[in-house]
Amino acid sequence: MALRIVRTMGDEVLRKRAKEVKVINDKLKILIDDMIETMYAENGVGLAAPQIGILKRVFVIDVGEGPIAFINPEIIEVSEEIQKGVEGCLSIPGERGYVIRPMRVKVKTQTINGDEEIIEAEGLFARAIFHENDHLNGQLFIDIMEDEPVLEEEIDENDGEIC
Ligand code: NI
Repeated sequence: MALRIVRTMGDEVLRKRAKEVKVINDKLKILIDDMIETMYAENGVGLAAPQIGILKRVFVIDVGEGPIAFINPEIIEVSEEIQKGVEGCLSIPGERGYVIRPMRVKVKTQTINGDEEIIEAEGLFARAIFHENDHLNGQLFIDIMEDEPVLEEEIDENDGEIC
Protein backbone atom coordinates (compact mmCIF):
# COMPACT_ATOMS: atom_id res chain seq x y z
CA MET A 1 0.00 0.00 0.00
CA ALA A 2 1.11 3.53 -0.61
CA LEU A 3 0.00 7.01 0.26
CA ARG A 4 -1.19 9.13 -2.64
CA ILE A 5 -1.02 12.90 -2.92
CA VAL A 6 -4.34 14.68 -2.36
CA ARG A 7 -5.02 17.26 -5.09
CA THR A 8 -6.24 20.65 -3.95
CA MET A 9 -8.20 23.58 -5.36
CA GLY A 10 -6.84 24.87 -8.61
CA ASP A 11 -6.07 21.38 -9.88
CA GLU A 12 -8.29 20.87 -12.93
CA VAL A 13 -8.77 17.19 -12.19
CA LEU A 14 -11.17 18.13 -9.36
CA ARG A 15 -13.57 19.69 -11.89
CA LYS A 16 -13.71 16.81 -14.35
CA ARG A 17 -16.28 14.05 -14.60
CA ALA A 18 -14.85 10.68 -13.60
CA LYS A 19 -15.30 7.68 -15.91
CA GLU A 20 -17.02 4.42 -15.19
CA VAL A 21 -14.84 1.52 -14.04
CA LYS A 22 -15.01 -1.16 -16.73
CA VAL A 23 -12.75 -3.82 -15.26
CA ILE A 24 -12.25 -4.73 -11.63
CA ASN A 25 -8.70 -5.98 -11.47
CA ASP A 26 -5.67 -5.99 -9.16
CA LYS A 27 -4.77 -2.47 -10.24
CA LEU A 28 -8.16 -1.23 -9.02
CA LYS A 29 -7.77 -3.13 -5.76
CA ILE A 30 -4.39 -1.45 -5.19
CA LEU A 31 -5.97 1.94 -5.97
CA ILE A 32 -8.71 1.31 -3.39
CA ASP A 33 -6.20 0.14 -0.75
CA ASP A 34 -4.14 3.27 -1.37
CA MET A 35 -7.23 5.48 -1.15
CA ILE A 36 -8.20 3.94 2.20
CA GLU A 37 -4.67 4.39 3.54
CA THR A 38 -4.56 8.00 2.31
CA MET A 39 -8.01 8.75 3.79
CA TYR A 40 -6.83 7.54 7.21
CA ALA A 41 -3.51 9.38 6.99
CA GLU A 42 -5.39 12.62 6.22
CA ASN A 43 -8.07 12.04 8.89
CA GLY A 44 -10.82 12.03 6.29
CA VAL A 45 -14.21 10.39 6.51
CA GLY A 46 -14.12 9.75 2.78
CA LEU A 47 -11.99 10.12 -0.31
CA ALA A 48 -12.89 10.06 -4.01
CA ALA A 49 -10.50 8.90 -6.74
CA PRO A 50 -10.39 12.30 -8.54
CA GLN A 51 -8.95 13.76 -5.33
CA ILE A 52 -5.79 11.76 -5.96
CA GLY A 53 -5.85 12.52 -9.66
CA ILE A 54 -7.58 9.35 -10.87
CA LEU A 55 -10.70 10.01 -12.96
CA LYS A 56 -12.53 6.80 -12.08
CA ARG A 57 -15.95 6.43 -10.44
CA VAL A 58 -14.65 5.14 -7.13
CA PHE A 59 -14.76 6.46 -3.60
CA VAL A 60 -14.13 5.14 -0.10
CA ILE A 61 -15.85 6.06 3.15
CA ASP A 62 -15.35 5.17 6.80
CA VAL A 63 -17.75 6.76 9.26
CA GLY A 64 -16.41 4.63 12.10
CA GLU A 65 -17.59 1.19 11.07
CA GLY A 66 -14.74 0.20 8.80
CA PRO A 67 -13.91 1.21 5.25
CA ILE A 68 -16.39 0.72 2.42
CA ALA A 69 -15.44 1.07 -1.24
CA PHE A 70 -18.02 2.26 -3.78
CA ILE A 71 -17.37 1.35 -7.42
CA ASN A 72 -19.57 2.91 -10.13
CA PRO A 73 -22.04 4.18 -7.51
CA GLU A 74 -25.47 5.35 -8.61
CA ILE A 75 -27.81 7.21 -6.31
CA ILE A 76 -31.20 5.60 -6.83
CA GLU A 77 -33.29 7.10 -4.04
CA VAL A 78 -33.11 10.09 -1.71
CA SER A 79 -35.34 11.04 1.21
CA GLU A 80 -37.49 14.13 1.24
CA GLU A 81 -36.28 14.71 4.78
CA ILE A 82 -33.15 16.83 4.79
CA GLN A 83 -30.20 17.43 7.09
CA LYS A 84 -28.04 20.52 7.47
CA GLY A 85 -24.47 19.98 8.61
CA VAL A 86 -20.90 21.22 8.38
CA GLU A 87 -18.70 19.92 5.60
CA GLY A 88 -15.09 20.33 4.74
CA CYS A 89 -12.94 18.72 2.08
CA LEU A 90 -9.38 17.41 2.00
CA SER A 91 -9.05 19.16 -1.36
CA ILE A 92 -10.08 22.54 0.08
CA PRO A 93 -7.96 22.93 3.23
CA GLY A 94 -9.33 25.30 5.84
CA GLU A 95 -12.73 25.81 4.24
CA ARG A 96 -15.94 24.81 6.04
CA GLY A 97 -19.55 25.41 5.28
CA TYR A 98 -23.10 24.28 5.99
CA VAL A 99 -24.50 22.03 3.32
CA ILE A 100 -28.08 20.81 3.07
CA ARG A 101 -28.37 17.18 1.99
CA PRO A 102 -31.10 14.55 2.04
CA MET A 103 -31.17 12.66 5.35
CA ARG A 104 -31.18 9.23 3.70
CA VAL A 105 -29.93 7.74 0.48
CA LYS A 106 -30.05 4.45 -1.36
CA VAL A 107 -27.07 3.72 -3.61
CA LYS A 108 -26.49 0.98 -6.14
CA THR A 109 -22.82 0.12 -6.27
CA GLN A 110 -20.38 -2.65 -7.09
CA THR A 111 -18.20 -4.46 -4.61
CA ILE A 112 -14.55 -5.28 -5.17
CA ASN A 113 -15.73 -8.73 -6.29
CA GLY A 114 -17.86 -7.16 -9.01
CA ASP A 115 -21.15 -7.97 -7.29
CA GLU A 116 -23.95 -5.44 -7.40
CA GLU A 117 -24.94 -4.15 -4.00
CA ILE A 118 -27.55 -1.75 -2.63
CA ILE A 119 -26.38 0.34 0.30
CA GLU A 120 -28.79 2.36 2.42
CA ALA A 121 -27.36 5.16 4.52
CA GLU A 122 -28.50 7.99 6.72
CA GLY A 123 -27.07 10.91 8.65
CA LEU A 124 -23.30 11.36 8.38
CA PHE A 125 -22.91 8.24 6.23
CA ALA A 126 -25.45 9.61 3.74
CA ARG A 127 -23.77 13.04 3.82
CA ALA A 128 -20.39 11.47 3.04
CA ILE A 129 -21.91 9.53 0.11
CA PHE A 130 -23.38 12.73 -1.39
CA HIS A 131 -20.11 14.62 -0.87
CA GLU A 132 -17.98 11.89 -2.46
CA ASN A 133 -20.44 11.24 -5.28
CA ASP A 134 -20.30 14.96 -6.12
CA HIS A 135 -16.52 14.63 -6.50
CA LEU A 136 -17.11 12.05 -9.26
CA ASN A 137 -19.05 14.71 -11.16
CA GLY A 138 -16.54 17.51 -10.61
CA GLN A 139 -18.70 19.20 -8.01
CA LEU A 140 -17.36 20.51 -4.70
CA PHE A 141 -19.21 21.38 -1.50
CA ILE A 142 -18.29 25.05 -1.86
CA ASP A 143 -20.55 25.14 -4.94
CA ILE A 144 -23.62 24.34 -2.87
CA MET A 145 -22.81 25.48 0.68
CA GLU A 146 -24.99 27.97 2.50
CA ASP A 147 -23.98 31.59 2.57
CA GLU A 148 -23.48 31.81 6.33
CA PRO A 149 -20.42 31.49 8.57
CA VAL A 150 -19.85 28.24 10.46
CA LEU A 151 -20.00 28.59 14.24
CA GLU A 152 -16.67 27.91 15.96
CA GLU A 153 -18.13 25.27 18.29
CA GLU A 154 -19.58 23.38 15.35
CA ILE A 155 -16.21 23.29 13.60
CA ASP A 156 -14.75 21.45 16.61
CA GLU A 157 -17.70 19.11 16.94
CA ASN A 158 -17.61 18.19 13.30
CA ASP A 159 -13.89 17.72 12.99
CA GLY A 160 -14.35 14.28 11.52
CA GLU A 161 -16.49 15.43 8.63
CA ILE A 162 -13.70 16.26 6.25
CA CYS A 163 -14.05 14.31 3.05
NI1 NI B 1 -14.22 16.36 -0.55
